[in-house]
Amino acid sequence: MTRRAVVTGGGTGIGRAVARRLAAGGDEVTIVGRRSEVLKATAAELNTEFDSDRVGFATGDLADPDQVTELAAQLVAGGPIDVLVNNAGGNPNQPSTDLTGLADAYTDAFRINVITAVLLTEALLPDLSRPGASIVSVSSIAALRGAGPYGAAKAALHGWALGLASQLAPQGITVNVVAPGFVPATEFWATRLTPELEADRVAQIPLGRAGTPDQIAAAIAHLASPDAAWTTGQILQVNGGTLLGRG
Ligand SMILES: NC(=O)c1ccc[n+]([C@@H]2O[C@H](COP(=O)([O-])OP(=O)(O)OC[C@H]3O[C@@H](n4cnc5c(N)ncnc54)[C@H](OP(=O)(O)O)[C@@H]3O)[C@@H](O)[C@H]2O)c1
Repeated sequence: MTRRAVVTGGGTGIGRAVARRLAAGGDEVTIVGRRSEVLKATAAELNTEFDSDRVGFATGDLADPDQVTELAAQLVAGGPIDVLVNNAGGNPNQPSTDLTGLADAYTDAFRINVITAVLLTEALLPDLSRPGASIVSVSSIAALRGAGPYGAAKAALHGWALGLASQLAPQGITVNVVAPGFVPATEFWATRLTPELEADRVAQIPLGRAGTPDQIAAAIAHLASPDAAWTTGQILQVNGGTLLGRG
């Protein structure tokens, strides 16, 4: 049976790779983000690649409760959702020593990385397939080793996902998290990656190379697959061994 999947932030980077992988496996995928022209182009590229119309898109700001209510109504109009990938996120602001700036930086990081996942998941909950749906959220290695507001927000995603995993397990719904390491071929790094920074990041990775969106997508696709039907409440690190250090 064809599964129905929703991938947030599916127009670019890791989310695009997830949408591509799920569509390649025959899933009907709706990608979600704020920029309709980006989503439209990605959906068209993937549909051309797979000679299908199985990738659609829906536009909205997932940190805005009213927009999420509208989005959720659109998303469930075609029937229950089998796979929800909460991938939208980012690292919006650098911390400031000024308290107002600090408050803004933490609030923005939580809005983009936590509120986006919480609102859409809650809005879709009544319409997730039971049993059998899977929810996979994307955090970061920053949640495990600390990185200001961004790391704190991604760590909050872990606590939320663990609570949701025990809440939804009796209904046959799995909830897991993938925590990627350094993946430079994304918009996340587009405006701030210098050759020096890239070399420094790669030097910290025991496997000796940066990750790719496809490698993160493979882990997400596994957790969303029937092969992972007995896996829930897990945080899967995909980072080339970065947290181990170089020994
Ligand atoms: N790249 C890395 O090294 C790395 C490492 C660890 C974790 N991550 C995490 O991986 C996830 C994917 O990021 P990426 O690296 O693939 O970067 P990316 O290309 O910048 O993707 C982020 C996506 O999230 C969407 N998004 C952001 N805020 C949104 C909102 N309020 N509502 C709806 N959509 C929103 C963006 O689309 P619009 O701008 O059109 O809304 C964009 O498509 C993020 O959660 C990121 O924190 C990335």
